[in-house]
Amino acid sequence: MIPSVLPTYNRAPLHFVKGEGAWLIEEDGRRFLDLGSGIAVNALGHANPDLVAALTEQASKLWHVSNLYEIPQQQALADKLVEVTFADTVFFTNSGTEACELAVKMARKYWYEKGEKEKVEILTFSGCFHGRSSAAIAASGSEKMVKGFGPVLDGFIHLDWGDHDALHAAITEKTAAILIEPVQGEGGIRPLPDQCLKGLRALCDEKGVLLILDEVQCGVGRTGRLFAHEWAGVTPDIMMVAKGIGGGFPLGAVLATEEAASGMVAGTHGSTYGGTPLGCAVGKAVIDRISDPAFLETVNARAGLLRQKLEGLIAAHPDTFEEVRGMGLMLGLKCTAKAAAADVVKAGYAAEVITVPAADNVVRLLPPLNITEAEIAEALDRLDKAATAFEAA
Ligand SMILES: Cc1ncc(COP(=O)(O)O)c(C=O)c1O
Repeated sequence: MIPSVLPTYNRAPLHFVKGEGAWLIEEDGRRFLDLGSGIAVNALGHANPDLVAALTEQASKLWHVSNLYEIPQQQALADKLVEVTFADTVFFTNSGTEACELAVKMARKYWYEKGEKEKVEILTFSGCFHGRSSAAIAASGSEKMVKGFGPVLDGFIHLDWGDHDALHAAITEKTAAILIEPVQGEGGIRPLPDQCLKGLRALCDEKGVLLILDEVQCGVGRTGRLFAHEWAGVTPDIMMVAKGIGGGFPLGAVLATEEAASGMVAGTHGSTYGGTPLGCAVGKAVIDRISDPAFLETVNARAGLLRQKLEGLIAAHPDTFEEVRGMGLMLGLKCTAKAAAADVVKAGYAAEVITVPAADNVVRLLPPLNITEAEIAEALDRLDKAATAFEAA
């Protein structure tokens, strides 16, 4: 008999009933150190007092009002994002997938309105992940994502990650945009080198192609800058955001330049829930905190400490771990051929530490951005315990 919850996930037998900062408390009382943050969502930890205050204050006033009316909380969050990023304008969604949908629509509509109706193709890269809608799985193009869900939405060209020649050859008069994650998350914590992102920007400018960055996982302070592309000193035309921006409340956004957004006039897009007073009140509290340079400085300091300790973990467990990669507090432990990342994650559960598997045999570490030094030390003890138990098994 089919379970009452559609069985699209292989779930671990863990039942968390409470969260406190970087800790998740199981029904049976065990306290797990959370280095997953709900896959880069709980950027300020669980039940953060500032976010609880923002949520409850707004909840007692007004949860939802239609986008048929002006929404001051939405306006305030959009103004803040425009102030602290490259963007001139913002559309709010409920998820990263919806942000992907709009980013694709916006890019195609831009060229349509310019009279270049043949420009519809979006170039994407192997290992990418942009969500689970029909457009997002078509963007990924991998068999795992699209098999059985045909007909697959047309107009996506899939290139090998890092193949510069193929990229140049793929750009034609039909190319509308390049879509890329500055740091691949699901693909196994693969950062795009700064030089490559700079090169992509220059290529897009030269060829007349829009650059769409997917910062759903790597954005909102995760890499130690408010958005990951800032490290390379270039800006996109369109950017997808979600996960961390809501700190646990379902919220996403598409940020864009005035030029890139110029085709999206009244009536071309919408969302019932996108940008509610409740979601935007929480999002504003998140962005106010994370965009503070002093906060980001601490993220970088903590990231340096965690990375240094992970190098020690690798040295102590060369049979299990090969390397640490990533940026800021978006780190991946690449496992050796002897160790499956999913099994290492499972061993972590027994040691009461939460990590997340990714492709390319990588264990992802995405702790809350405000994890303390003491918690990092504790995390390493638990990861060491997990690796030792895994090796003994
Ligand atoms: C880079 C990236 N883009 C898009 C998405 C889809 O976001 P959501 O699950 O909120 O729809 C994800 C989710 O993991 C992601 O990591």
